[in-house]
Amino acid sequence: MLSYPASTVSTLDGQVNILQITDLHLSSPVPAVDDKTSSEVSVCQYHFEAIIKQALNKDIRCDLIMVTGDLVDKVKPAIYDHIFKVLHETGIPFACIAGNHDVTDEIGADLPFFQRELIARPADSRLLNRHIIETDYWQLLLLDSSITGKVEGEITATDMDWVCEQLDSCDKPALIALHHHLLPVDSDWIDSHMAKNVDTFWQRISAFEHLKVIINGHTHQEQMRQHEGVTVYSTPSTCYQFKPFEDDFAYDENARPGYRWLQLANNGKVASWVERLDT
Ligand SMILES: [Fe+2]
Ligand SMILES: [Fe+2]
Repeated sequence: MLSYPASTVSTLDGQVNILQITDLHLSSPVPAVDDKTSSEVSVCQYHFEAIIKQALNKDIRCDLIMVTGDLVDKVKPAIYDHIFKVLHETGIPFACIAGNHDVTDEIGADLPFFQRELIARPADSRLLNRHIIETDYWQLLLLDSSITGKVEGEITATDMDWVCEQLDSCDKPALIALHHHLLPVDSDWIDSHMAKNVDTFWQRISAFEHLKVIINGHTHQEQMRQHEGVTVYSTPSTCYQFKPFEDDFAYDENARPGYRWLQLANNGKVASWVERLDT
């Protein structure tokens, strides 16, 4: 069995193809069912496994799977066991970080956010914080931006120091992966739950021209922005999507479950796109 987490990835052509999946929101470890309409539980379960199957059946070679948080909707070890089993069975190196739902149970998911009760939970020990994956031509930095018992995230002073140290000590092009978004997506309700301390973060990383890419989840939608020379990608959930540019909470009923590919070339260039689950 593959060792977890991935810490080095090396390929013959020097290019690294990353599959990013995010916001799985599984609330049960039950096996996937083929009946997509049976319940919300099995819908998220079905979509997670269907996306893994679809993505890995494509012609593109997958060198690494990154899972950027909100793996579960209820913090239960059995659900993580199931997710890790599915990921191990791909035979592809992978790494997972926490989102808010991995450290907080929300009671009253059918209620508006401000009426829900938030209960702090410890993160599963398999979720990584401040983890490095070295590739031949890139440095990949994984950060845990979650705060126990809260929806919003943060980049702590320790995280920021660590990121700067890594960028200082390695001049390869760099990618940061985390759950919370670091730039507004122009949707008031989601933007009130982004990472705190972003101004300090952007100020400090502006010194490092070789930081090329940041990928995040949490926003349940596809976006791409440029800031301080960095390309920032938000990635759709493998289950349900939020409606872009809405100031009040709204699902995007028409958007399919999705995932992102990133191709990190050996010259520091990046190609990235989102694919959606086939109907
Ligand atoms: Fe989420
Ligand atoms: Fe989230």
